[in-house]
Amino acid sequence: MQSQTVEIIHNDRVSAKYFRLGLAWKTPTIVPGHFVMLRVSDGLDPLLRRPFGIYNVIGAKGKDSLRGEGIELIYQVVGKGTNILSMKRPGEKLSILGPLGNGFPYPEDHKNVIMIAGGMGIVPLYLFAKRINRGKLLFGARGRAEAGVAKDFKALDCKVKIATEDGSIGRKGYVTELLEEDLTPGMIVYACGPVAMLKRVAEISLKEGAKCYVSLERAMACGIGVCLGCAVKSKAHNEKENKNYMMVCSEGPVFDSSLIDWDVL
Ligand SMILES: Cc1cc2nc3c(=O)[nH]c(=O)nc-3n(C[C@H](O)[C@H](O)[C@H](O)COP(=O)(O)OP(=O)(O)OC[C@H]3O[C@@H](n4cnc5c(N)ncnc54)[C@H](O)[C@@H]3O)c2cc1C
Ligand code: FES
Repeated sequence: MQSQTVEIIHNDRVSAKYFRLGLAWKTPTIVPGHFVMLRVSDGLDPLLRRPFGIYNVIGAKGKDSLRGEGIELIYQVVGKGTNILSMKRPGEKLSILGPLGNGFPYPEDHKNVIMIAGGMGIVPLYLFAKRINRGKLLFGARGRAEAGVAKDFKALDCKVKIATEDGSIGRKGYVTELLEEDLTPGMIVYACGPVAMLKRVAEISLKEGAKCYVSLERAMACGIGVCLGCAVKSKAHNEKENKNYMMVCSEGPVFDSSLIDWDVL
């Protein structure tokens, strides 16, 4: 893990609020689920780096590639930092810290994988789906415009089912309803999205006897386990190791869902 200055290859708007950012970064090995911390401004405001999951590994020209000359992120503009980021142009430079975190463990049998994502939670699952080149994605979005990011998965050998809150595409309702229908014992669930969704995914997986890994998002100041700002209360760890909290940035962001105390998240 190291901090470096990297050049922007592209920073394209892909929908009303989503951008696709390509960075020329000769990457060390990236495990799906790794994330980076980006400094979006040279000044003091905003002071803190912002965390983003790694969507894809690309070539120097921004095209899909396994050569590891760059990475691609997908981000949603939600506040000051992401708004500044959205105005950056190709050729400008950004300071990047990473790769950070643990990433998703690979399954022994790729056929039993079921991925479930809500909104921007789809980001770390794309590289995962690409590496295992199989599996099923259940994707929850507010509406058709947000659901567009799932199209890359369809180009992989990956089945995609969509649920939208407004019913404009796919099933009208919550994506967890799709999981209840499709999950069978022995499957391994890989999930990323809002906490309420992840909590429900953990409950459904437990009920079906399925192993479940969740990638958590917490507000992060340092990203490297120093500030203790991203702590989550642990459950099983607590009993086994007498350890009450886990740091999402340095011990996660991917956790076995049974280790998390969902009641206080
Ligand atoms: C490990 C990790 C990976 C992430 N990956 C991605 C990604 O791939 N793409 C992406 O778009 N975003 C991702 N995020 C969220 C992203 O870091 C925040 O959206 C970003 O930091 C917001 O910065 P801002 O300055 O624009 O917003 P701020 O001005 O800091 O906040 C604006 C609003 O967004 C809310 N907000 C801030 N951070 C988060 C968060 N983590 N989750 C939910 N709401 C938040 C705030 O509560 C506030 O309401 C990730 C976060 C983590 C921890
Ligand atoms: S963000 Fe500082 S310890 Fe995790």
